[in-house]
Amino acid sequence: MDQQTLLSSDASSGRLLLAAKVALAANHSGFEHCPCPKYLKAIVRALEEEPPPFDTVAYDRLYREASAEPQWMAVSLITNAEREGDGATRLWSLAACTETRGIKRQLKAHAVDESRHALLYLKMLDVVFGGSVDPAFRIDLMRLSPGYTVRQRLYPVPGSPYAKPVSLDDFVQMNIAEIRTTIHHIMQRTSLARHCPENKQHQIVSIQNSLLRDELKHVAYTAKIIEAAVTRLDSESVAHLFVRRFRDFNRITLEELDSNAFDCSVSCCAKRPWCRAKVDASSGLVSIQ
Ligand SMILES: [Fe+2]
Ligand SMILES: [Fe+2]
Repeated sequence: MDQQTLLSSDASSGRLLLAAKVALAANHSGFEHCPCPKYLKAIVRALEEEPPPFDTVAYDRLYREASAEPQWMAVSLITNAEREGDGATRLWSLAACTETRGIKRQLKAHAVDESRHALLYLKMLDVVFGGSVDPAFRIDLMRLSPGYTVRQRLYPVPGSPYAKPVSLDDFVQMNIAEIRTTIHHIMQRTSLARHCPENKQHQIVSIQNSLLRDELKHVAYTAKIIEAAVTRLDSESVAHLFVRRFRDFNRITLEELDSNAFDCSVSCCAKRPWCRAKVDASSGLVSIQ
């Protein structure tokens, strides 16, 4: 089971569970046999109780239809860059405020990855739609990436609601979001290929391979942290948390679909208090520390 299995999977085959399994198979160090059985069990239960609309044939078809329009595709790449950059700042704040050393390091690495991803989406914009982006606007877009590096010192981003120690709930949400990003990635791959000149396809595929490798790594490391937490806590409450957070993500997805968005922008989310501002300090979340 590898990346190719996932990339060649049909929308009707249940890509969500497959993405989780491929991610674990590709990042299996530390596991001899079936990695993260309790985590996978929680995912299966959540899929039964809250089947996600973003893992359906209808969603895949809607995405294909919308992405046939070049302008939609170009804006979607910019939106992706914006989300990656925003995700990076959230992770940076969580990493800054988390004391457990191994987890702090993984969060920081994750933030650096997402910061780089923002630039990779802009690079894809240049390669596929370069001639149609205003140069001054393109320079402005560079601000979408916070430009984090591993060498930089961590600090809580001023005003960030994520300036707090990371919790198990954060990792559950991250895990679902990373799987959803992976499903979007699969759909975007074929759609972007239709807009990309033949002689530039190899450049795009190389960027996409690196993006997919990272997203699967993010699915896997969050899954491993959740699995370790399930071992310490009771598995029923973790499964319940997955069901609840799937319900939230499904609601976000359906709201996005109303506006023909498949990964809505930061400003779009800001209009909905329950969307993305998912840090819920009152919900009795379990700290990972
Ligand atoms: Fe990313
Ligand atoms: Fe990611």
